[in-house]
Amino acid sequence: MNPVNVLAKLWKRLMLRGSEFGGSYGKLRLLYSLEDPWDMASPREQHRFAQTLAQLQSMAPRFGSVLEFGCGEGHQSLSLIGISDRLHGVDISPAAVARAGNRCPQASFEVAALEDALTIIPDQRFDLITACEVLYYAMDIDDILGKLQSRTDRLYVSNYKPRSDKMRASFAGDGWRRLEDIRFEDTVWECFVWEAPERR
Ligand SMILES: C[S@@+](CC[C@H](N)C(=O)[O-])C[C@H]1O[C@@H](n2cnc3c(N)ncnc32)[C@H](O)[C@@H]1O
Repeated sequence: MNPVNVLAKLWKRLMLRGSEFGGSYGKLRLLYSLEDPWDMASPREQHRFAQTLAQLQSMAPRFGSVLEFGCGEGHQSLSLIGISDRLHGVDISPAAVARAGNRCPQASFEVAALEDALTIIPDQRFDLITACEVLYYAMDIDDILGKLQSRTDRLYVSNYKPRSDKMRASFAGDGWRRLEDIRFEDTVWECFVWEAPERR
């Protein structure tokens, strides 16, 4: 591995240390002083995006309004825009949101936290809300899920498997369905959808 990549990896490790399930986002924001800190352009993540799209399209070929929580720099937005009439991305990082706007100009983006979902979407409803690889930084996942469920009939969640153990129970209640895991080599993501009664 070249020295720049080694440094980037160390930086990421440092910024992520202690950030899980803490609800404090200062270090996550700093992470974006690097471009593409999560390696979203890699074949692994591109595979995840393609599989996510396939799972969503097994529910509906297209969605009117889509809210993407934790949109980062808009890598997955580029994939979601293909099945959305209107896509709105939200992330806690201003740098990430600025890059997302450049990467995916067809969508709109905003800096905000999942925890403030009801403030940023006071009375709007979305056909689909996605929370991919984002919930493990929050402190109160069930509270966030309740807020999101009040604004949509369909909530899609994916979680990197090694981090799923502490949160799996949140996706087992009424209306939740576990989908096929997404796999790429030795990496596994667990995927879930919650649907309101009229969608089931
Ligand atoms: C691992 S990246 C995932 C990006 C994208 N959703 C994907 O699946 O490729 C997690 C993103 O969620 C954002 N994030 C973490 N906690 C958040 C929160 N509470 N509200 C909004 N965004 C958050 C981070 O800034 C980061 O961009």
